[in-house]
Amino acid sequence: MDHFELVNGVMHAEQVPLPAIADAVGTPFYCYSTETLRRHARVMRDALSMLDNPLIAFAVKANPNIAVLRLLAREGLGADVVSEGEMRRALKAGVDPKKIVFSGVGKTDGEMRAALATGILQLNVESEGELRRLSAVATTMGATADIAIRVNPDVDAGTLAKISTGKAENKFGVPLDRVEALYAEAASLPGLRPVGIAAHIGSQLFDLTPLEAAYTKLGALVSRLRAAGLPVERVDLGGGLGIPYDPKLPLPPSPADYGAMVARVTAGWAVRLMFEPGRLIAGNAGILVSRVVAVKTGATRTFLVLDAAMNDLIRPTLYGVYHDIRAVQPRSGDMVATIVGPVCETGDMFAEDRPITPVHEGDLVALMTAGAYGATMAGTYNSRPLVPEVLVDGGRYAVIRERQTLDELLALDRIPDWLDN
Ligand code: LLP
Repeated sequence: MDHFELVNGVMHAEQVPLPAIADAVGTPFYCYSTETLRRHARVMRDALSMLDNPLIAFAVKANPNIAVLRLLAREGLGADVVSEGEMRRALKAGVDPKKIVFSGVGKTDGEMRAALATGILQLNVESEGELRRLSAVATTMGATADIAIRVNPDVDAGTLAKISTGKAENKFGVPLDRVEALYAEAASLPGLRPVGIAAHIGSQLFDLTPLEAAYTKLGALVSRLRAAGLPVERVDLGGGLGIPYDPKLPLPPSPADYGAMVARVTAGWAVRLMFEPGRLIAGNAGILVSRVVAVKTGATRTFLVLDAAMNDLIRPTLYGVYHDIRAVQPRSGDMVATIVGPVCETGDMFAEDRPITPVHEGDLVALMTAGAYGATMAGTYNSRPLVPEVLVDGGRYAVIRERQTLDELLALDRIPDWLDN
């Protein structure tokens, strides 16, 4: 659920009418609801409340805005990070380093050093080479890295190929049959303390079956590791729970269903469980608000040309996925429109032949469910500056990331000496 509702015919974010924000900050802009973010953090926490001291580490990649991270940190969430940049954001937001997990398939030596210097909870290691490099880095620092081995359980998550991560052919994790040897090697290498295992099989999952299959494999692995005399204290179960984007489709499994499955499958493991939800927390807590620049009648269809484009919200272009699109002040009646951005690519399309209430030039529209993998995946293609992010809390709002100016966008380029005349 979210807190973007019509009040007297005008879409509000909590108690703030969206046109008021548009007037103040211009369009396009991302808008987040504090209440929705909080609610999702609490729903997840409640769903896992039967577990002993679980760690919920928000997947920062979904929405790395520091204000958002601070809000979630105040709800008790930690952070799952995949780069030094994400770690720095989490720290700046006030996330306790002992609630930070460093995942990712290609950590550099510099990132390892930064993680160890910070004293984060653990690093999830994804290959033999990475394990040995981490041992060397930790040893030169006189540090000990608590590590988990990320397992590739070879399970088909049943989601889009581009966001599946747990199949044998995917780049992520260590093949299941090599984990025991690597775990034993970790226990013997200096500078490392293996504390557990981790898995994340994919994102936007609409079925608990593949998750259960993966977790079952992890449970058997925990037993085998212990039988080999290797201690296992923690298991990181990753993220991946799907959320509703298309109101016409059946709902995904609820966090409560997920929690019940986890409790059943992991009973008796005697470990601390960790979770890395991203989309579930942030997805429906954000929208992208855009103004209609043109209503264009083509030869075969009507186009709504927005001032937002694929560079601002790339998911429809990249994955061909659905985002609900609604008029902020709906007019009566209906139309069918192909909703596009102004970027010079045919793929710059948010929706094709989509039924929508009639929209005129100058109207505002909201692209829903854009709080996860929205602003964070934006780029500046066609020299379009990054758009601002606004956080609403009840009747107040604040810009939590400024709109990038054209001067800022241009300022990084340099003319070499030999062209400078
Ligand atoms: N943990 C790890 C190690 C991950 O790789 C991911 C997501 C998560 C947790 C969080 O997954 P979530 O709970 O959000 O499903 N850009 C794509 C999604 C890519 C997800 C990558 N990894 C999209 O827009 O759909």
